[in-house]
Amino acid sequence: MKIAVIGTGYVGLVAGTCFAENGNQVICVDFNPEKVASLRNGKLPIYEPGLDEMVQRNVLAGRLAFTTSTSDAVSASAVIFIAVGTPQDEDGSADLSYVLGAARDIGIAMNEPKIVVDKSTVPVGTAELVAKAIRSVTPHAVSVVSNPEFLKEGNAIDDFLKPDRVVIGTDDDEARKVLVDLYSPFVRTGKPILCMDTRSAEMTKYAANALLATKISFINEIANLCERVGADVAKVREGIGSDVRIGPHFLFPGIGYGGSCFPKDVSALGRASRDAGYKFRILEAVQDANEHQKGVILEKVTTVFGQDLSGLTFAIWGLAFKPKTDDMREAPSLTIIRGLLARGAKVVGHDPEAMKEARRILGDSIRLVDSNYEACTGADALLVLTEWSTYQRPDFDTIKRLLKNPVVFDGRNIYSPERMRASGFTYHSIGRSPV
Ligand SMILES: NC(=O)c1ccc[n+]([C@@H]2O[C@H](COP(=O)([O-])OP(=O)(O)OC[C@H]3O[C@@H](n4cnc5c(N)ncnc54)[C@H](O)[C@@H]3O)[C@@H](O)[C@H]2O)c1
Repeated sequence: MKIAVIGTGYVGLVAGTCFAENGNQVICVDFNPEKVASLRNGKLPIYEPGLDEMVQRNVLAGRLAFTTSTSDAVSASAVIFIAVGTPQDEDGSADLSYVLGAARDIGIAMNEPKIVVDKSTVPVGTAELVAKAIRSVTPHAVSVVSNPEFLKEGNAIDDFLKPDRVVIGTDDDEARKVLVDLYSPFVRTGKPILCMDTRSAEMTKYAANALLATKISFINEIANLCERVGADVAKVREGIGSDVRIGPHFLFPGIGYGGSCFPKDVSALGRASRDAGYKFRILEAVQDANEHQKGVILEKVTTVFGQDLSGLTFAIWGLAFKPKTDDMREAPSLTIIRGLLARGAKVVGHDPEAMKEARRILGDSIRLVDSNYEACTGADALLVLTEWSTYQRPDFDTIKRLLKNPVVFDGRNIYSPERMRASGFTYHSIGRSPV
C-alpha cells in the first residue's frame, strides 16, 4: 500500500516506519526542514528504543522516505495519515490548527480520491472538520477515518507492531476494508480490530487516557493517605491489584503524571465536556490531584531542609517524564526543579537520554553532568525522579560517599526502605513511612 504520514514526531515516525517494516511504501512528511534533513542524514530527532535501526533498514530497502513536501507525498499515496501535534490551547482545549493546516495541505495536493486517516488525538467531531477543510479546496472525493493511536513512548515500536487493539472509526465500507487490510498483519495474535463510527473512535482515545490518568491520581491519593495513617502503599497496591476487577497495571504511586499526552488530553476532554454543557466531576479532581502530586517531593525536601534552600545543592536523577524516552513535555521534574531553584537551591541533573532536551528547556539554570554519580558529588541530597533501569541498582556506598548528607528522596519508589535504612540513608519515598 502507498502511504503518506504527515508529521514525523513520536507517533508519525513510529507509524510510518512500522508500516514500511510490513512492506508498505511510505513517505513521511514534516514541515520542519531541520527534522527532515536530519532524518535524511540518518539521524533521528527523537529517542525511541529500536527505532533508529528500523528506520535505517527501511530507508535502505527503499520503502521509507522523508520529505517536506506534502504535495509530493499526497499525490504518490492512496492513504494519508495525519499524525501532527494537538497541543493544549490557552482555554484547555486541543489546538487543532496543525491538524486542520495539514488537512488543507492534503486537500490542495489531492490529484484523485484519497483516504485520509486521523491518527492525532482529536476531540469528537474533528473528522468532520478535517473532511470539510479538505473538501473546501479540492473537487476530489475524500473519506476521513479516525484511527487513534495508543502507543507508549519508550515502548512505541512494540506497541505499534503488537497493539492491544486497533480502533477504526468510519462509516465508509471501502475505507474500512482498506484500513482493516493495512492493520491485519499487526493483529495476527488475535487482538481485535474494533470498527466503529468516527465520533466513538475519537472519544475512545480520550476516554482511555482519562481513565489511565485517573488510575494514577487515585493511587497517588491513596499513597498520600498511607503516609498519614502509617500504611504502606506498596502493600496496598498488591492487595488491590490482585483483584481481577482492578488489575495491577498503572497503579504505581509517584510524582504525578506528565508527558505529551495525559495532561493535555485530560484538559481537552474537560474542556469538551464543559462545551457540551456537562460537568465532568472526576476529571477536575484528577487534574487537581496531579497538580498537588507534583509538589509532594518538594514538600518532603522543605520539611527536611526548611523553606529557604539557598546554599544547598540537590542532585537529580531522571529528567524525562518517564524512562526510555527523551521527552520532557510536562515532565514533573520541571516543576520540582523550578521549585528548588525558586527556593534558592542549586540543581545538578542527569538523565540517560534527555540531557539535550533538558538543556533546551532549562538553559543554564541547572548544571547537567554526564554521570549520575557525578551529580551526587557534594550535593546535600539526591532526588530520584525517573525510574530509568540504570538507576535501579546503584552503588549505594559510592552515593553515600559522594553526598554531603546521606539523604535520598525517591519519587518513584524504586528502592527498598529496609535496604536504604541498612545502608545508612535517610530515605523518603511516596506512600511509605520515611526511614
Ligand atoms: N507521543 C505519544 O506518545 C502519543 C501517543 C498517542 C497519540 N499521540 C497523539 O499523536 C499526535 C502527535 O503526537 P507526537 O507526540 O508525535 O507529536 P510531535 O509534536 O512529536 O510531532 C508532531 C510533528 O508534526 C509536525 N507537523 C505539524 N504540523 C505539520 C504539517 N501541517 N505538516 C507537516 N508536519 C507537521 C511537527 O513539525 C512535528 O514534527 C498528537 O495528537 C498526540 O496527542 C501521541
